[in-house]
Amino acid sequence: MASAQRPSDAADLGPVSVGEFDSEDHFAMAASLADQLEEGWKAARDDLRAFKPPVDRPDGVVVCGMGGSAIGADVVRVCMPGLTVPFEVVRAYDLPAWVSPRTLVVAVSYSGNTEETLACADDAFGRGCRPVCVATGGALGALARKRDRPLVTVPPGMQPRAALGYLATSLAATLDWAGLVGEFAPQVAEAAEIVRSMAAELHPAVPDEANPAKPLARRLHGHVALIYGAGVTAPAARRWKGQINENGKAPAFFAEFPELNHNEIVGWTGDPALARTMHVVLLVDPWASERIARRIDYTAEHLSGRTAGVDVVTAAGESPFARVCSVITMGDFVSLYLAVLSGVDPTPVAAIEELKRHLRS
Ligand code: PA5
Repeated sequence: MASAQRPSDAADLGPVSVGEFDSEDHFAMAASLADQLEEGWKAARDDLRAFKPPVDRPDGVVVCGMGGSAIGADVVRVCMPGLTVPFEVVRAYDLPAWVSPRTLVVAVSYSGNTEETLACADDAFGRGCRPVCVATGGALGALARKRDRPLVTVPPGMQPRAALGYLATSLAATLDWAGLVGEFAPQVAEAAEIVRSMAAELHPAVPDEANPAKPLARRLHGHVALIYGAGVTAPAARRWKGQINENGKAPAFFAEFPELNHNEIVGWTGDPALARTMHVVLLVDPWASERIARRIDYTAEHLSGRTAGVDVVTAAGESPFARVCSVITMGDFVSLYLAVLSGVDPTPVAAIEELKRHLRS
């Protein structure tokens, strides 16, 4: 890493030789999303087959997890239009007050050792719930085995955020198994087809003029990224933020329409110099309502000229899962090119590991 020469901002990124920056082949993991979706969907259904769902008609779904293990739940939540019970994603130590023994609780931790997720799993058992666990193993895996609860195992050896395809399909398969949603397989198939072809287009060997992730990364580089989404693209906005933080090692923030129109747009008006340090990316879903579309158009107009730039990334596909995965794929590659531009290795997350060590000590 230290000897790698970072590409100059001004130069065309060209066909990037990422090997010198990318110690653990994170680009290949991003490109594996389509395979993960297909394999994860099948493997999770196999893992669950031996178990009976904990309740007949759950009164709600709560998924607890943190960071890279939680984002799959946000993604799945917006792709289940047939779901008729509340679905909450909990990033905390406790479950919400409404959770009862009739609630389907799913604890997701890639490592299986995240303290907030383990605390929620304990809380679930304490309330008489019978949670489903998703992990590579660790303490959560051991707990599931000890309490004879279903354990959906995801392949080890990755960064949690790089295993999004496995984690998201594990959850989708869990909801399907619990009888909460209609047929999800066609959404998986469409998403896999779209992200597979996007991964080929966004590959490091593809030069700037044919690879939209590279010029977008260069426009973002050196600025604070603000990612705005709505509906299906809201979890993608959160994912972009996390990926820019962890892969690109850069600050980034996200917000959602329509709420951001009621506060955030005022924040651009007080200090023009500060506003010009920020670059906005609008994640647009062509299937969004006319009311949301008008807000996005107005906001783009309002921000251009005030900020360093405004880019629009449009979702592809028909099913909600394909649309959200398409926007996520673009963000994943942009975050990796940001790492290249900064000359940093996308994989290690030393700051998170250091904090976890500190809390354990
Ligand atoms: O991306 C990361 O490494 C983090 O956001 C982790 O996912 C988070 O700290 C939780 O760990 P785990 O996914 O192992 O539960």
